[in-house]
Amino acid sequence: MEETREESPAFQDVWRARIARRDALRGLGALAAGLAVGRAAHAEAALGTDAPDPTNLARGPVTRESRSTLRFAEVPQGVDDRMHVPPGHTASVVIAWGDPVVAGAPPFDPAQVTRERQELQFGTENDFLAFLPLPRGSGSSTHGLLCANHEGAQLRMMFPGLEDRSTALARSTRAQVEAEMAALGHSVVEVELVDGRWRVVAASRYGRRITAASTWMRATGPAAGHARLCTSEDSTGARILGTFNCCAGGVTPWGTVLVCEENVNKHFSGKSFPASERRNHARMGVGSEVEYGWSRFHARFDAEREPHEPNRHGWVVEYDPYDPLSVPVKRTALGRFKHEGAATTLAPDGRVVVYMGDDDEHEFVYRFVSARPFDPTDPAANRDLLDTGELCVARFEPDGTLRWLPLVHGVGPLTQEHGFASQADVLIEARSAATLLGATRMDRPEDVESNPATGRVYVLLTNNTKRVPGEQDAANPRAPNRHGHVLELVPPTARDGLRDHAAAAYRWEVFLFAGDPFELPSTTEITQRAAYHPEVSRDGWFTCPDNAAFDAQGRLWIATDGGSRLGIADGIWATDTLGPGRALTRRFFRAPVGAEVCGPCFTPDCTTLFVAVQHPGESDARGSSKGVHHARPTARFPDYDEALPARSAVVAIRREDGGALG
Ligand code: FEO
Ligand code: CA
Ligand code: CA
Repeated sequence: MEETREESPAFQDVWRARIARRDALRGLGALAAGLAVGRAAHAEAALGTDAPDPTNLARGPVTRESRSTLRFAEVPQGVDDRMHVPPGHTASVVIAWGDPVVAGAPPFDPAQVTRERQELQFGTENDFLAFLPLPRGSGSSTHGLLCANHEGAQLRMMFPGLEDRSTALARSTRAQVEAEMAALGHSVVEVELVDGRWRVVAASRYGRRITAASTWMRATGPAAGHARLCTSEDSTGARILGTFNCCAGGVTPWGTVLVCEENVNKHFSGKSFPASERRNHARMGVGSEVEYGWSRFHARFDAEREPHEPNRHGWVVEYDPYDPLSVPVKRTALGRFKHEGAATTLAPDGRVVVYMGDDDEHEFVYRFVSARPFDPTDPAANRDLLDTGELCVARFEPDGTLRWLPLVHGVGPLTQEHGFASQADVLIEARSAATLLGATRMDRPEDVESNPATGRVYVLLTNNTKRVPGEQDAANPRAPNRHGHVLELVPPTARDGLRDHAAAAYRWEVFLFAGDPFELPSTTEITQRAAYHPEVSRDGWFTCPDNAAFDAQGRLWIATDGGSRLGIADGIWATDTLGPGRALTRRFFRAPVGAEVCGPCFTPDCTTLFVAVQHPGESDARGSSKGVHHARPTARFPDYDEALPARSAVVAIRREDGGALG
C-alpha cells in the first residue's frame, strides 16, 4: 500500500522567513540566542514564571561563570583511552560486563564466556540506567537497585578470532550466539555507597538477569493475543520469550521499570514475507539490516519461517525490580516501533503520560496518556495502568504549535481500507498509522524527557544524514542533519499552574542545534549552523545528543553518541534550561575512545551521577572499527589489563567532598 508522506512546500519558506526576520532584528551573531531564548522568553513572561531576560544577551561581555548556574570546571575536548571528569570529582566503575549479578554467579573470565555464566552475569553494552531506592519508597541516595539495559553485543569484541561483524555473522558458533543472546536484555543489581564509593552487594536477593534467551514474558493491551502475535511456538499470542536490543527506558511513578526494545529488526533474517506482513516488515527493516546470526540456530529469528515473531518485539516492557520473580510485561498499548526511551510524568488530573521517541531516520515522537489516573495509595490499581489509554504522535507546525494526533482505530484514515482492521493493527504498525495521520518526520528521536522542575519537555534528535535538501521542515531544518538538535516542548498550564501533559496542543521551540559552533558555515550544504548560547566554550559544544537526565534544579544533562568521528570523545554536557545560562552547555564527562555514553541517572540527592559507558574501545579516534576486535580494542577500559578485553561498564561520578553535582 502507498503511504502518504508528510510534505509541505511551505515549510522551507516559513523557516527561511523566521531566520531572515531574526537576522534583521538581531544581527547574525545573535541568531543562536534568538533561537534558543527568544520566543520562549516571551512565553514564560506571559505565563508569569521565571522568565529569562532576553535583552541581557546584548549587554556586552559578562563572564561565563555568571551566566551559568553550573560551577564545575569544564573537561577539555579530546579523545584518548581514559575517562575524564572535572577537578574535584571522581569516576569509579560500579559494574562491568561479565561481573556477577545473580547469587552464585562466577566472576568474569574472558576464556569462559558462555550462556550459562552470562545468564548470571552483567550483560554487554549497558545502556539505560535507573536507580530505585532501598527500601522501596525510602528516597535513599546511598542504597538501591541499579537497573541496566543491555542493548547489543559485538561478537568480535566478546570472543577472539572473529575479526569483524561479517565474519562473526558467518562463522560464530551456536555456543557463541547463545552467550550473546544471554548477554542482551537487562540486569538488576543491588548497590550501596560505602565510604564514598559505590559497591555491588554480593549475592543479593534482588540480583536478576532478564535475557533474550531465557526470560518468558506476557503481552497485555490491545494487541496481546492477536493473530499477528501468534507463532508456531505460541498460539496464545501473549506469551513471549525474551527481550533484546533494550535501549533506553523509564521509571514509573509506582516504582516499576520500563525497558524499551529498539532495533529489534537487526536480529531477524528473511527476505520474502506473506502479503499481510510486507508493509510492516519493510517499515521496520526486518530482514534488511541483519546484524545478529541468531536465525542460524533459532528458527524463530527467521522471519520467513516465523513472520509473526518480529511482531512480538519492538514494544515497551514493564517489570518490577523489587520482585525478582515478577514476570515482565510487554505493554502493547504503547505501540510498536524502534523505541528509544519511555519517560513518564503525570497530567494535572493524575493520568500517566509516557513520552517516547522512535529512533530512526524520519520517524516520530509519540505520547501515551493512560485512561485512568495514578493512585499513590493503591499499588494494585496501578499495575495495569499502561494497558488502557491513548497513543498519539506529534505534528510540529511551522508556527510553533505542536499537535498530538491520536492513533485510534476507525478515526481518520486508520481504517480497514488502509490496512488497519483493529486497534491491534494500529499498534503493531504504529509507524504506518502515524504516517497516514501526517505526523512530522523527525531527525532520529532519542530521549524525550520531561523536566520535573519546569514541566517543559526536551526531545533529543541525534542526527539524520538521510534528510536531503528539500525535505527540511520547521522542526528539522537541516538537510542533512549531521549533528542533531534539541527541541523544547511547552505544554500549556492547567488551572492549578501545572503543565498539562495531556493537552492536545503544546508550543515548541528549538533549544539548540548541536555541532561545532566555531566551524565556518558550509557553502555546499543547505544546513543550519550550530547554535547554543553565544558564550558556549570550545569544550562546551557536542554532537549527536542521545540520552538525557535532569538534576534537582531542572538542569539538563545530555549524553552523546557520535563524537568519535569528529575527534572528540562522547560524554556528558550540562546546561541550564531557563535563565541567562540557557543552552550554555558545559562538558562534564569524557568517555574513553570508541564508547558512546548512555543512561545518565542521578541519585535522588544528586550527589551521584551513574552513566553507562557503552562499547568502549570498539573504534578509533575517527570512528573507524577497522582492525579493532577482541584482541585489539582501542581502549582496554575499564581494567587496562592486557589479559582482559574492553568491557562496557557503569560508572559512578561524584564530587570528592560528597556535595551535589553541578
Ligand atoms: Fe539505542 Fe537510539 O540508541
Ligand atoms: Ca540511545
Ligand atoms: Ca544513539
